[in-house]
Amino acid sequence: MSAGADITNLTKDEARAELARLADVLARANTAYHGADAPEISDAEFDALKRRNAAIEAAFPALKRADSPSEQVGAAPSEGFGKVTHAVAMLSLGNAFDDRDVADFDDRIRKYLGLGAEPLAYTAEPKIDGLSLSLRYENGTLVQAATRGDGAVGENVTENARTIADIPQEIAGAPAVMEIRGEVYMSHADFDALNARIDAENIEREKNGKRLQTRFANPRNAAAGSLRQLDATITRSRPLRFFAYAWGEVSDPLAETQMGAIARLADLGFVTNDLTALCDGPEALISHYRMIEERRATLGYDIDGVVYKIDRLDLQARLGFRASTPRWAVAHKFPAELAWTRLEGIDIQVGRTGALSPVARLAPVTVGGVVVSNATLHNEDYIEGRDSKGAEIRSGKDIRVGDWVQVYRAGDVIPKVADVDLSKRPEGGVPYVFPTVCPECGSPAVREEGDAVRRCTGGLICPAQAVEKLKHFVGRKTFDIEGLGAKQIEMFYEDEALPIREPSDIFTLEKRDAANLARLKNRHGWGDQSAANLFAAIQDKRRIPFVRLLFSLGIRHVGEVAAKDIALHYGEWVAMMDALDLARPAALANRAADEAEDVERRAAADEGRRARVKESRDRTIAGHDVPREAQAAWDDLIGVDGIGATVAQSLSDAMANPVERAAIDRLVAELEVTPPEAPAQESPVAGKTVVFTGTLVQMTRAEAKARAEALGAKVSGSVSGKTDLLVAGPGAGSKAKKAADLGVETIDEQAWLDLIEGL
Ligand code: IVH
Repeated sequence: MSAGADITNLTKDEARAELARLADVLARANTAYHGADAPEISDAEFDALKRRNAAIEAAFPALKRADSPSEQVGAAPSEGFGKVTHAVAMLSLGNAFDDRDVADFDDRIRKYLGLGAEPLAYTAEPKIDGLSLSLRYENGTLVQAATRGDGAVGENVTENARTIADIPQEIAGAPAVMEIRGEVYMSHADFDALNARIDAENIEREKNGKRLQTRFANPRNAAAGSLRQLDATITRSRPLRFFAYAWGEVSDPLAETQMGAIARLADLGFVTNDLTALCDGPEALISHYRMIEERRATLGYDIDGVVYKIDRLDLQARLGFRASTPRWAVAHKFPAELAWTRLEGIDIQVGRTGALSPVARLAPVTVGGVVVSNATLHNEDYIEGRDSKGAEIRSGKDIRVGDWVQVYRAGDVIPKVADVDLSKRPEGGVPYVFPTVCPECGSPAVREEGDAVRRCTGGLICPAQAVEKLKHFVGRKTFDIEGLGAKQIEMFYEDEALPIREPSDIFTLEKRDAANLARLKNRHGWGDQSAANLFAAIQDKRRIPFVRLLFSLGIRHVGEVAAKDIALHYGEWVAMMDALDLARPAALANRAADEAEDVERRAAADEGRRARVKESRDRTIAGHDVPREAQAAWDDLIGVDGIGATVAQSLSDAMANPVERAAIDRLVAELEVTPPEAPAQESPVAGKTVVFTGTLVQMTRAEAKARAEALGAKVSGSVSGKTDLLVAGPGAGSKAKKAADLGVETIDEQAWLDLIEGL
């Protein structure tokens, strides 16, 4: 029965069965939404099903179920599991899609480590398409199993993991503390048998008028759905398996190499993948990849690529991690799965920074086991058949509504429209005209020089931007308020009596609710408990770290990493705000200079160009007559390593925009902002500002910086009164002189290495 089918003629029995079916479908959709266990249904379908459920309940109040979906406010069922903070974060992997990306991976590593052409060994192993699990053993006993979650905090699934035969519960000869990581998956044969069992049971259930179970779409969903069962006896009845391939906290090193560690895991009783090989460089990696790709269809379980890792564990440690992926490993993905379907329409979504993103509405089609009805079309150039530099893509073919298009998806990324079949273009098809006004608020949508994206200029008056900003604000990596997710944000944004239109409204919600006649707890879908829980969860987040707050604001270019660099640099929120206010005249001059530079660049596409562009820039800056303190504050900001003029400008603009600034000040007034965590105490360089200059011999600049930051130091690109230490290699020039003038302690590379040795 479709979401829209008429309910007026339902008999009582039919209504009961339909409510049961809806409870099931909506619960699954909810799980998929929060935990990605199953292919999602669209938000519109979800809402339509919820409305249908409410309509049937209104017609048959006596049939309302105890687990009625109308009582649930999108709370993740996974809240039933306890939370586990991973001792060592569970990260994801960067991707490589072709041979060139693999060569780049090797190049990047060599560059980072400062290696020449000497041999460098890697391992290559299948990338299992399941879900990752971390197993903690203490003195050889399995004490805890946790899913990855957001990488920092996962779900406690210990009882469920104990039902998996491949997971040993007691291990002899293991280090005192040992976290083993790997992938839970389901074999093809077990998956087929499970779905056959569901089909057979459904025939019986149907006869008895019981609610039907939904088949699983693919083995990955089946594995995830089976592991994340609140009832471990259900997990036990599902045939799950486990490959071990990595580790977290270990009290003694497992080995000196990745290969050695895998052998050790096998010795300890884990199942490891026998297609793991040692390779001496990109060519060997790629030939192992091809071998695995050929065998893919006959392996009996799903894999979606091959993972390459640096073999030597000491080099892994030196390479370390970027924000969320290791530098020492990469996933070489298999080519994406393809399908052809009809493009039924193009919708424009407006994102948090105002970006207008075209979304293809497709006649639903199965791509690699998942039904796809939406795909990204990137931007207006892409639809027209051009890349960001104006060069032709798809031989210049544009994409029109009504066209027959090729859709592909690689792993878990958003499906994309790749190609168009002109031979099937319907007559009268017209080129797509990309809107130049925001479809949500009617403000002009403009493209800045060099930007592929057209953006709504409405700022916070644009409801779409405001809602997306709020959703970002309450996300997992930002304020992470339990019970206040994307769905609730949409609801509160529209709410007339108790609106949330800007972040500060979240923190005044409880007070406003108390003053309201229609209390939240009496509303449809809410109760005493859920309203109290929400207020408590909000209360819980009034104390917030500087970094999170800054990242939460959703300022363009101020991502997680930039927010961290800025927070470490200023330490206190107020200090940052004061510095930005002080630097404002310099920021304005910089913006004007950028604009002048653009004009000059466009006008002068000839020889003398460079000089003229530079001149126009300098002239503009000079014309602005920036006070000295303003320039100093600006230089200090753009001198923060990792922060360039683009980030600084964007941050400065956001804080100087009166509407945005007022909203931010209202928010901060509700909060207690805590300074960035004090860096590791033991480190002699913790909290110090360090500058590297000249040639480093034993490590590259990138490694030196990453290492210093890991030890709690701030790394700056320029010497100033705030610099604590200059590490100067041969060839150091003006920075060394300035440090001497300012009396900044200066040491050489070896002294630096001695200082941080053993840390
Ligand atoms: S190594 C620091 N090896 O892929 C990262 N991951 O896209 C350590 N995965 O979350 C991961 N097979 O769930 C590694 N042989 C393999 C893998 C593998 C599957 C998954 C894992 C990870 C995801 C990253």
